[in-house]
Amino acid sequence: MGATGRGRSVLRSGVKRLLGRAGFDIVRSTNNLGGVDDFLPFEATMRAAREAGLSVGDHIDEVMNGTPGATQATIDELRALGVFAAGPRTVLEIGPGSGRYLEKTLKECSPDRYEIYETAAPWADYLVESFSVVAQPTAGCSLAPTPDGGVDLVQAHKVFNTVTFLCASRYFFEMARVTRPGGRIVFDVMTETCLRPAAVRTWATQGGAGHDFYPAAMPRQTCVDLFATLGCSLEASFLAPMGVASTEVLVFTKEA
Ligand SMILES: C[S@@+](CC[C@H](N)C(=O)[O-])C[C@H]1O[C@@H](n2cnc3c(N)ncnc32)[C@H](O)[C@@H]1O
Repeated sequence: MGATGRGRSVLRSGVKRLLGRAGFDIVRSTNNLGGVDDFLPFEATMRAAREAGLSVGDHIDEVMNGTPGATQATIDELRALGVFAAGPRTVLEIGPGSGRYLEKTLKECSPDRYEIYETAAPWADYLVESFSVVAQPTAGCSLAPTPDGGVDLVQAHKVFNTVTFLCASRYFFEMARVTRPGGRIVFDVMTETCLRPAAVRTWATQGGAGHDFYPAAMPRQTCVDLFATLGCSLEASFLAPMGVASTEVLVFTKEA
């Protein structure tokens, strides 16, 4: 039986409360095939950002996630690690959503080509329109339209904690495949470093309804060992805030 109007509105306000507490990075489906648009509706988010006089990225950081400056802090760390210093000519981003990392990446470098793989069509369209990026057909966890070894910087932020282990793993193989020798691979995952007992308690007690599947954990060593078999070595890692806790950003270099 479908939910009543009042039931639906109670549900929506419950979800909104949850988003305020834990960050918007919450997904509903088991593989997020509907995209973040389920929980980050394009029109409403853009309107709220406009009304707050903020860019959509800053609005998400400050108002929706309660972590002002979080996106910029990650970009600052990546800059300090020299990720943008080589002037990447081709960048590929998986799951850019609102484009909060994309926009800041484009302030750090001027690639000739910026490809995105994004399942939420309204956000993908907006990014194509606003930043002249190339939206690739996105199906499952594949980067098939992108040829081998041509991308200087491949990145994904706050994506792999919202998809299943297998989806993330499939993307890992693909990320290594498309990266050129000497190129960088940057992504964050919720590793054991982020899951100290206090953090687990917080997620378990404050997660609430809708947190059956999200956030998804990924063992750090699994990533390091897997990428090593793909010719990519871990160069650096650091923590980035996410909702009530954090994710760990891993920076790999593909051997030349
Ligand atoms: C939690 S959001 C993060 C968005 C953005 N990176 C950020 O940090 O603001 C996850 C994003 O990944 C996208 N996504 C989910 N599954 C995907 C998949 N299989 N392939 C590509 N994008 C996906 C969602 O639509 C959403 O935009």
